[in-house]
This record gives sequence, structure tokens and C-alpha cells, in this order.
Amino acid sequence: MESSNMEERTFRAFVVEERESAFTGSVANRRIADLPRHGLLVRVRYSSLNYKDALSATGNRGVTRRYPHTPGIDAAGTVIASDSAAFRENDAVIVTGYGLGMNTPGGFAQFVRVPPEWAVTLPGGMTMREAMAYGTAGLTAGLCVLRLAEKVRPEDGRIAVSGASGGVGSLAVAILAKLGYHVAAITGKEHERDKLLGLGASEVLERKEYEAETPNALLEAEFAGAVDTLGGHVLANLLKSMQPLGVMTACGNAASPNLSLTVYPFILRGISLVGIDSQNCPRPLREEMWQKLAGQWKPEGLDRLCTQITLDELPASIGRILQGKLTGRTVVNTG
Ligand SMILES: NC(=O)c1ccc[n+]([C@@H]2O[C@H](COP(=O)([O-])OP(=O)(O)OC[C@H]3O[C@@H](n4cnc5c(N)ncnc54)[C@H](OP(=O)(O)O)[C@@H]3O)[C@@H](O)[C@H]2O)c1
Repeated sequence: MESSNMEERTFRAFVVEERESAFTGSVANRRIADLPRHGLLVRVRYSSLNYKDALSATGNRGVTRRYPHTPGIDAAGTVIASDSAAFRENDAVIVTGYGLGMNTPGGFAQFVRVPPEWAVTLPGGMTMREAMAYGTAGLTAGLCVLRLAEKVRPEDGRIAVSGASGGVGSLAVAILAKLGYHVAAITGKEHERDKLLGLGASEVLERKEYEAETPNALLEAEFAGAVDTLGGHVLANLLKSMQPLGVMTACGNAASPNLSLTVYPFILRGISLVGIDSQNCPRPLREEMWQKLAGQWKPEGLDRLCTQITLDELPASIGRILQGKLTGRTVVNTG
């Protein structure tokens, strides 16, 4: 198709509009010509729903400054046009993070146009749907496991994962189990117990046991490692519960952005706290992670983890993720 014709083409997108300080999203037609003038035009086949998308869809100015806006921090699809030697027409690509869906139109649409540096080639052994079953949550879980596995081996002891029924948590449980770790999945949802055991958790612990503020500088040394997605008291209590030389990753604030702690876990047990940021993860590491996620790290149950929805079904799922009621991963088929 001639490029001028392509620019005039319309496509379906989930568009959030602001009216009298209220934010509502619905599916509308958009023109390719209205997308930003970046070098890589992608026909999006699948996207996925993350907590940040729900914030963008409900007017959180820390995520998205201007509306109308199309959220979606994840996209997998086919290259339609590229001004970069790194990609050719019909290449299958994954785009996650950077600015996608925050202050640039995102993956809840049939097309995105992004800087080529934001895209990675879909690795062999992975479908576009699987890439979005992972999405930003999977990349983040993978980075947590990578950093933890640098120092902690499966025989060193139990690994705690908080927010275990959520996107990052459930994928961290599945990947760690695949790599042979003993995973203690911490959840606030008792009814998710069997699913977590099915994903490979060795045990399921109640979140309420870790949620209260504790006065002690140290707690019983229970875990060799931990992946925390919640922040706040759970993060503090898990840090106090690390074995000597334990490693803990912190990637989220689903419960709280705060952390109240003494230095004692660090100076008496030699533990490490590693921060994880997948949004701006450097490209070589990003490519390495996607290769791992497509290969040896891919959990058996990846497909069972995700629910598939359409663009029209986004408002209901956005409401559920904001209420902490969504479990696992939600893949969006853009049609
Ligand atoms: N640093 C990064 O690069 C990065 C990337 C992706 C996500 N994140 C962050 O990681 C966190 C998890 O993301 P996600 O996509 O996995 O979100 P999610 O799918 O919404 O899962 C979050 C889970 O946390 C628990 N939870 C939710 N609200 C809570 C509350 N108020 N108090 C205590 N527990 C609560 C629930 O699990 P249980 O019921 O099982 O306890 C829930 O399923 C978010 O804060 C997100 O912003 C960071």
C-alpha cells in the first residue's frame, strides 16, 4: 500500500477522554496520520493490561499528562514500515515500556508508531500472544529472578514472592519454580491457593502474616531470597526475614511506596536489596531477558495464567485491576 494511503487509514483504538474531570474510555477510530512521527509503524496484534495502564486510563497525571489518550505499555505485532536497518516489513516485534502508552499512544490499539530503539525482535519459540502473556509484568519478573539468581541458588533455601496472584508475582512464582527454586507464594487471596500450587509454588503463605508493622529490627531468618511487588510493611518484614547473605528484589508499590527499616538486616546479615526498573531496562539486557523468557525460563502454565479480552472489554478489567481483584495476566486481542 502506498505510504500516503497508509497515513489516511483508520484503525480501532481504546481512547480515554477527560470530561469535566471524569475519565471515560471507549473504542474509537483513529488515523495513522495522527500517530507520532517515529520510525517504526507496527500493526499491533496483542497488548496486555498492567496496573500502570489502569492508572493511565483513569487520569493519573503521574503516568499520563494529556488526554484524549490511548494507554497500553505493551504491544506485540508486525512491522508495517521501518526507517531503521534493524527491522524490515513483516518482522514480528515486541515493544514494552519506555514511553509507550504513557505520554505517547499505546498498545490498546491496532497500530502504534514508536522509535525503533523501543522494539525488540520477537524471539524464536515465542508467539505474540505469549509475549503479551508476559508483557511488562513478565519482563519485570524475569529481571527480578535474574538478579536474585546471580547470588542465590535453589539449594540455599526458600524464596518468598509477594503479590503472588498478580501479574508480576504469578510470573515470578512460575519462573522460579521452573528453575528449581522452592517458592513460598504470599497472597491475600486464599482462593488462589490451588492456582499458585499449580504454577509451581511449594507453599502458599497468607499475606496478613507479613502486613503488620513490626517493632523488631530482625525477624526469624526464613528466606534465602524474595521478590517483592508490594512495598511498605511487607517489604520491610521480608527484609527482616532474610537469611544471611539473602537477596531481595523490590519492583512494586501495590500496597505502599514507603519503606521503614533500620540498617540491621544489612549490617548483621549482609543481605542485599536490589531495585528493579523494567521501563528503561537497557536494550542488551532486554534482549537477553526475552531470549530467556522464550526458552529455558518459559513456564509450562504460561497459557493458563492469562485471560484474553478485546479492546471493548477493557473498562471492566481496568476496574478490576484497580480493585486488586484481577489475577494472573490479561492479554488484549486488538482484533
Ligand atoms: N519496577 C518495574 O519495572 C515494574 C514493572 C511492572 C510492575 N511494577 C509494579 O509492580 C507491582 C505489581 O504489578 P502487577 O502488574 O503484578 O500488578 P497486579 O497484577 O495488580 O498485582 C498486584 C498484586 O498485589 C496484591 N495487592 C494489590 N493491592 C494490594 C494492596 N492494596 N495491599 C496489599 N497487596 C495488594 C495482590 O496480590 P495478592 O492478593 O496475591 O497478595 C495483587 O494481585 C505494581 O506496584 C506495579 O506498579 C513495577
